[in-house]
Amino acid sequence: MSILKLENLGYSYDSGKTPVLENLNYEFENGKLYAVTGRSGAGKTTLLSLLSGLATATSGRIMYLDCDVSKIDRYRYRSRSVGVVFQNFNLLPHLNAVENVLLSMDIAGVKGGMKKAKALELLAKVDITGPLAKRRVLKLSGGEQQRVAIARALSFDPQILLADEPTGNLDLDTQDQVISIFSNLAHAENKCVIIVTHSPQVAQSADVVYQLKTIRSAGKQPAKT
Ligand SMILES: Nc1ncnc2c1ncn2[C@@H]1O[C@H](COP(=O)(O)OP(=O)(O)OP(=O)(O)O)[C@@H](O)[C@H]1O
Ligand SMILES: [Mg+2]
Repeated sequence: MSILKLENLGYSYDSGKTPVLENLNYEFENGKLYAVTGRSGAGKTTLLSLLSGLATATSGRIMYLDCDVSKIDRYRYRSRSVGVVFQNFNLLPHLNAVENVLLSMDIAGVKGGMKKAKALELLAKVDITGPLAKRRVLKLSGGEQQRVAIARALSFDPQILLADEPTGNLDLDTQDQVISIFSNLAHAENKCVIIVTHSPQVAQSADVVYQLKTIRSAGKQPAKT
């Protein structure tokens, strides 16, 4: 059974004047790595906002198990079920890696006295250990920040992990490392992992690739003749 299912999903900005997504019918299952590709402006980040419950479909719907995402408790969905790695990380630069992960646990209402140990364990999973875990994230490299952002997205153990261009600015080795983290989360931990990407390497490693078509030059007026 799919954990997320798009049913004729559509989205427009500007009260319908800027249609970006139209009639999407994708399905996502646990245990698989998905890549969503498409040109710049095709609507990939928009789709992730809808999947993460930050925005609401303007037509069709997204089903999470058998619930319409627009009708469920969105706060609960966002703090329990989906973890998001944003295009620009959204880490707090003056906090260190452990503090960033702990803060996310607190926001999600994670209970229990083992939070710090759990944060360190998540960071170790993405190879952020020792002094790296204690350094303010603004003093970490782009690839290291990317990995902290992945650990943070996992802080409340979500079943679905969404990532927006997670290998965007990384060299090929670091890109491979990040891909293998995502692949492991899907294949060894049975999570549903959805990655938006321009990278052919990421798309190649995915179990399923959905290609978003640009439905029109959103926001642009037709050229006058
Ligand atoms: N708040 C907004 N209001 C109006 N139009 C918007 C808004 N946000 C995005 N758009 C437009 O919607 C389209 C899709 O944007 P989106 O950010 O989803 O693209 P993308 O596929 O993620 O692109 P990229 O690969 O460059 O990150 C673009 O044409 C963009 O200009
Ligand atoms: Mg984008």
